[in-house]
Amino acid sequence: MKKRSLVSIDDFSTEEILKVLDLAVEFEKQPVRKLLEGKVIATLFFEPSTRTRLSFESAINKLGGKIVGFSDSSSSSVAKGETLHDTIKMVSSYCDLIVMRHPIEGSARYASEVSSVPIINAGDGANQHPTQTMLDLYSIRKTQGRLENLNIFMVGDLKYGRTVHSLMMAMSRWKATFNFIAPEELRMPEEFKLYLDNMGLKFYEHTDFTDIISKADIIYMTRVQKERFSDPMEYEKVKNVYVLRNSMLENTKPNMRILHPLPRVNEIHPDVDSNPKAYYFEQALNGVFTRQAILCTLLGIKI
Ligand code: CP
Repeated sequence: MKKRSLVSIDDFSTEEILKVLDLAVEFEKQPVRKLLEGKVIATLFFEPSTRTRLSFESAINKLGGKIVGFSDSSSSSVAKGETLHDTIKMVSSYCDLIVMRHPIEGSARYASEVSSVPIINAGDGANQHPTQTMLDLYSIRKTQGRLENLNIFMVGDLKYGRTVHSLMMAMSRWKATFNFIAPEELRMPEEFKLYLDNMGLKFYEHTDFTDIISKADIIYMTRVQKERFSDPMEYEKVKNVYVLRNSMLENTKPNMRILHPLPRVNEIHPDVDSNPKAYYFEQALNGVFTRQAILCTLLGIKI
């Protein structure tokens, strides 16, 4: 079988994405299925993670696979100066698939060129996070009943936020309208706006969203990522620029849902958590089912 990796959401056709989402529905109904027996999956996390790593490992365990890897590269030979090339070359000879998170943009694509087994990009710097996008699409379809023609609000760090970059690219396939809400310093990069222009899709940029919140079908909140700033003063200026509070949700659509890739810091006040429109914890749970579906798809395993 030809090696197939998932580095960018654009590596999958629309038909393939929908197949993954349908497969995830089956895993949600019955998560424990011994489909990965005899398979070894490596999880290589060069950057911190809670949800992505643990939901992948939960997915692998529920499928009966075995896990090797590290959650802290300082405990691997990277600390001795081993290159990404050599690390991937070696690990790919020990396993059937590699899930990798790395702080450098483009590292996942590079790893997919070096590896003899499929690579799943679990986040490469500020670039892409395609498995997060799959679970976001799953969550949007599940809560809205469709993916087509939705009004998506993306709020916060749109410059460095890899989850919004991947999700914007994916939702453009279903003719979304985008409202980008960010401070000047963290606006959506030009290359992604050009992507929408080329698709003929509408997008609007704002620095505040209180007056337009009633139009949203999905509000996708994001954290301002301290770790991406080289100047700590720049981070201090923008870190609490948007805080979503329960009182702001009064005039929102009944079926509007709030998503967040998590972790959150201050951008969603805890008083939102008990509002039925808060969906971020269920969204994270959906990550197990969608990652089960992605693993089986890339390994050519049918259920
Ligand atoms: N959403 C997400 O990527 O979370 P983690 O950083 O905890 O994996």
